[in-house]
Amino acid sequence: MDLSNMRKSYKSDQECFEEDQLASLDPIKQFGSWFDRATKCPEVGEANAMCLATATKDGRPSARMVLLKGYSEEGFRFFTNYESRKGTELDSNPEACLVFYWEPLNRQIRIEGTLERIPYEISRDYFHSRPKGSQIGAVVSRQSTVIPSRQYLRDKNAELEEKYKNTNVPMPDYWGGYIVKPHLIEFWQGQTNRLHDRIVFLRPKEGETELGDMQYQAEGGWIYQRLSP
Ligand SMILES: Cc1cc2nc3c(=O)[nH]c(=O)nc-3n(C[C@H](O)[C@H](O)[C@H](O)COP(=O)(O)O)c2cc1C
Repeated sequence: MDLSNMRKSYKSDQECFEEDQLASLDPIKQFGSWFDRATKCPEVGEANAMCLATATKDGRPSARMVLLKGYSEEGFRFFTNYESRKGTELDSNPEACLVFYWEPLNRQIRIEGTLERIPYEISRDYFHSRPKGSQIGAVVSRQSTVIPSRQYLRDKNAELEEKYKNTNVPMPDYWGGYIVKPHLIEFWQGQTNRLHDRIVFLRPKEGETELGDMQYQAEGGWIYQRLSP
């Protein structure tokens, strides 16, 4: 299958994304501005779906979609099984990358950062705010382990539905949230003429006070620069 002619029209040069169109020089607020736009765009099915890339300690990568469940100046939160493949990789290598792609808006955001588990109480509160079926599902699924069949899941689900019929489902200790504490956030806006816009915010390393060539001061301790597409 030859896909070499497959390309779509993006935006015209008049609609490009200039530095003075940033909603904020704080990249978390800028994220918020684009995220709100994506949630209001009817063609974006699930604005909070993001690709999470992790890697083993020796650098073998893996990626999968997860759902963003909150963000703040501190970082970006999602929930999962700590014993899953991603959880195991994060145990030995806490560096990870998130990518959002909102195709109808021709926008991509890349976030690189260090992951930490969020406090147990926050995970527990979120766990119990989910529908009971989802809570049971989290107990049923020892995520990323090999199982004999779908029937095995059905049987286990039925067994747990019966077990927790009249009681709360306790949050399994292998389940919880992570926060991605970002040190790089890149905003990408696609343009028709392929002169795409890329504005990257970086958190300078400790002790680094001088701005580099073509780097500018942003807010909240961030700096920013433009990259060639
Ligand atoms: C749109 C979408 C959203 C998902 N959200 C989550 C999520 O929030 N948490 C999660 O653990 N898995 C989520 N999944 C499933 C993961 O992609 C993945 O299959 C699972 O977490 C196991 O990944 P792992 O074996 O690499 O650890 C989602 C899948 C899709 C397609």
